[in-house]
Amino acid sequence: MGTALITGASSGLGLEFAWQLAAARHNLVLVARDEERLNSVAERIRAVAGVGVEVLPADLARRDQVDRVADRLGQSARPVGLLVNDAGFGGSAGFFELPLAESERALDVMVRAVMVLSHAAGEAMMERGRGAICNISSVAAYMASGTYAAAKAWVLAFTESLSVALSGTGVTATAVLPGLTRTEFHERAQLDYGHYPDVAWLDPATVVTQALADVRRGIVVSTPSARYGVLGQIARHVPRWLIRALSGPSGR
Ligand SMILES: NC(=O)c1ccc[n+]([C@@H]2O[C@H](COP(=O)([O-])OP(=O)(O)OC[C@H]3O[C@@H](n4cnc5c(N)ncnc54)[C@H](OP(=O)(O)O)[C@@H]3O)[C@@H](O)[C@H]2O)c1
Repeated sequence: MGTALITGASSGLGLEFAWQLAAARHNLVLVARDEERLNSVAERIRAVAGVGVEVLPADLARRDQVDRVADRLGQSARPVGLLVNDAGFGGSAGFFELPLAESERALDVMVRAVMVLSHAAGEAMMERGRGAICNISSVAAYMASGTYAAAKAWVLAFTESLSVALSGTGVTATAVLPGLTRTEFHERAQLDYGHYPDVAWLDPATVVTQALADVRRGIVVSTPSARYGVLGQIARHVPRWLIRALSGPSGR
């Protein structure tokens, strides 16, 4: 695939995508806000994997900065063959406990940026007749738990639509629905999930290995691990009143 552009590449799943794609001989464009951290990741990957690594710091809540990333995706002289829309964050407060601006920021990063970057990448890839777009959703997409779940449900529905729009073009779209994964996500969101048993947790390597295998096969909806695959199937088929009851009265 040549070059992969990964948002949220400074930590967690995005960082794991960067390492696995570098190991598979992709050059990389790394996007996140923390420039210092991105530079240190880039230095280590160049030294260990010997691939080319560009650093493109951007706050994806800001439209002007999303546009800079979109411009990079549109550069025909330096084509990007794989876009991974991974950047995202959660929160521990309920919808009405949170300043509305925080919910808007969540949509800016996890919905608007995903849409703008998919559009830019899709256009450039269709012109070349090949490429792949991988959007990170979540099993939370099936739940009724706040703006985060709603944003992830949008990513799932959008990516399925994208795969239809791209059909026959040589470009594929994959939505990845991880379950609980050990990254910085929960600490950053001040979510105390310490009571969840070990069996509920996935490691980033497992999630990304399956996600990339599914991207390579052109699978549209990828739910890493057998246990979350089964849970996802159940969540898709149980009545919505049960999902609402399980999601809790606070809408968290
Ligand atoms: N961990 C889980 O249990 C889990 C489960 C399902 C889905 N997911 C999804 O997986 C994706 C990756 O999360 P993670 O678990 O790897 O969490 P993480 O370790 O906290 O990584 C989140 C990444 O997103 C970047 N990011 C956050 N806000 C940004 C912004 N405004 N602009 C640009 N980059 C931003 C962060 O970088 P900077 O801080 O440097 O900007 C970081 O690189 C997210 O979309 C998340 O919703 C996670």
